[in-house]
Amino acid sequence: MAEELPTEVSEQEKVSEAEIAVHWKEEEYYYPSEAFVEQANAADPAILERFSEEHFPECFQEYSDLLAWDEPWNQMLDSSNPPFWRWFVGGRLNASYNCLDRHLEKYGDKAAIIWVPEPESEETQFITYSDLHRRVNEFAALLQDFCELKTGDRVTFYLPMIPELPVSMLACARIGVIHSEVFGGFSGAACGDRIADSGSHILVTVDGYYRSGELQDHKARADEALDAAAKLGQTVDKVLVWRRHPGQYASKSPMVEGRDFFVDEIIGKYRDEVVTPVSMPAEAPLFLMYTSGTTGRPKGCQHSTGGYLAYVAGTAKYYEDIHPEDIYWCTADIGWITGHSYIVYGPLMLGTTTVIYEGVPTYPDAGRAWRIAEKLGVNIFHTAPTMIRMLRKLGPDEPAKYDYHFKHLTTVGEPIEPEVWRWYHEVIGKGEAVIVDTWWQTENGGFLGSTLPAVHPMKPGSCGPAVLGIYPVIYDEDGKEVPAGSGRAGNICIRNPWPGLCQTVWGQPERFVDIYYGKFCKDRSSKDWHDWPYLAGDGAVQAADGYFRILGRVDDVINVAGHRLGTKEIESAALTVDEVSEAAAVPVVDEVRGRAVEIYVALKPGTAPSKAIENKVKEAVDRLIGKIARPRSVWIVQDMPKTRSGKIMRRVIAAISNFGDVGDVSTLANPEIVDEIRHHVQSEKVKRGDQPRELTPEEAAELRSFGHAE
Ligand code: PRX
Repeated sequence: MAEELPTEVSEQEKVSEAEIAVHWKEEEYYYPSEAFVEQANAADPAILERFSEEHFPECFQEYSDLLAWDEPWNQMLDSSNPPFWRWFVGGRLNASYNCLDRHLEKYGDKAAIIWVPEPESEETQFITYSDLHRRVNEFAALLQDFCELKTGDRVTFYLPMIPELPVSMLACARIGVIHSEVFGGFSGAACGDRIADSGSHILVTVDGYYRSGELQDHKARADEALDAAAKLGQTVDKVLVWRRHPGQYASKSPMVEGRDFFVDEIIGKYRDEVVTPVSMPAEAPLFLMYTSGTTGRPKGCQHSTGGYLAYVAGTAKYYEDIHPEDIYWCTADIGWITGHSYIVYGPLMLGTTTVIYEGVPTYPDAGRAWRIAEKLGVNIFHTAPTMIRMLRKLGPDEPAKYDYHFKHLTTVGEPIEPEVWRWYHEVIGKGEAVIVDTWWQTENGGFLGSTLPAVHPMKPGSCGPAVLGIYPVIYDEDGKEVPAGSGRAGNICIRNPWPGLCQTVWGQPERFVDIYYGKFCKDRSSKDWHDWPYLAGDGAVQAADGYFRILGRVDDVINVAGHRLGTKEIESAALTVDEVSEAAAVPVVDEVRGRAVEIYVALKPGTAPSKAIENKVKEAVDRLIGKIARPRSVWIVQDMPKTRSGKIMRRVIAAISNFGDVGDVSTLANPEIVDEIRHHVQSEKVKRGDQPRELTPEEAAELRSFGHAE
């Protein structure tokens, strides 16, 4: 319906967006050191040719060869039912076997995981491949026997960064049970939604964990999750509670008799038990990972066993340059896709040592991360721009004080500003390390855009070309290709299927088709994959050298510190406050976290604005989603700027919040409200000293396209 209305982006606006892009400064290349190139897993540019489009899909044989298969597959890609692609058809394998058993002979005594508790007084744990194998087997035996779980069942985890999380993941994988981890920082209510959506009857959680020096009462939040799930009709039969300090209970929330069990009390029965890994079809789902989109209901991205593992092993080997003898540390949370792919599955499949840190990398001071790196000999470091900005702000000269040597650095999750990139390179990387800026998404399983570190030069602010076996295209709003070097931005799409792409949205296949393929698939009856470009939902521009610069989301998603938050989820939380009649969440530029959330609310007739209502809105967001989504400001307005069909123009309020250009508002149903809101919000911001610096052209372009997917 929206298409029939006066277009929200006028031709004039489109042109000026293009012009903005033209004036972007091209950054200089940086080159990898000879020492890096000499030891790299992929240093011969011939690999690019092997993965060129004419060798698709057979090129992925190289990735599948990195796995141990119980049964070889007989068809690389079955694309007969677009867009439900099937990879490695006929093959069978087990994920836990691939991460553990096959390494035992060679690496049994080597640390698979080094776990660093947040309190520096607690000892670091070195968990060898043999130890991990034993712990996974014991827990798998418990899941099978005590919980009566079987192949295809779903289990939700609500776990923070403790070794019991990868143990639980691999135990499920061992018996063909689909795991669904919910980020420990999410609220109980958000976890409850995900328990219900996945239909889990078992929840695995922990009593507490440390964050910024405080032992969090996590079991209390797990109980909120169980209540929320019950309200949605999902009963959880058993709750397995790991204890942060076995034998001591850290929570105030009572254990429920017959439902809640301390794992340390019941696991003894399974001591030294060995569970035969269940040989799973390549197509069997391995896990669900929920993410946000344009509607309030979270999407459970369903990742496969064979395709996902092959893609993650290949990208971890070539792009993270992981060798078995490396000490690799990724600071992401395992509760997000980065942690699944590049803390747990990727590194363990390659037989390396992966560091897991419980807490905040700047706790208790700016040197903590570098002390960990020095003490453990970390040589590959993987983090997000928000963390880099934070480390830079807190201790700009700190890294030089520590004797560590990184060969390789990764940035992921948000666009990185060139000056932040340079600090990462010069100060954290001490000018020695290569950097890969990896662009991808929860849905993708692994990287989509990055330089191949020993082959391509780096360019600050650009992720680089597409990775091996990925063939992107940028389309304008009308589906016309935007050529490289044109300086124009558009919608980045991937023209081909690839093994890491999720199989579907759990329980909502029609949503999978609509969200990722609805916009640019011209013929839904086509059986040819060439007709099905995957829509990433990001704006991007491609330079003449083929490098992509990712601008950010073009849909209703706000990326706060690399966490993807749906505006609809935040707005639904605000709407639970009695006095609120309408809500609109928008991104504002934030120096450290990339973006922060501001929310505009209109009140029910006869309700007077008050500080108390603002606080209620903030509390509702904390309670229903989590503190990461808490709005920085709540703006109570008389009315929202709307189109004639009544749609809220988030783009216009986003411009106001950022002191940007609101563009042409003459086609709105209530153009006069724009000035009123602008005056109210901006004068208050100036009073608070909350006026952001002038927007960069990239930021301006991103904000102008915000909300277009409505
Ligand atoms: O907008 C892009 C941004 O993060 C989104 C994906 O978020 P999520 O599914 O949570 O996955 C995060 C970890 C892969 C993308 O649509 N994004 C991710 N990586 C980059 C990025 N933006 C710019 N540069 C990146 N390297």
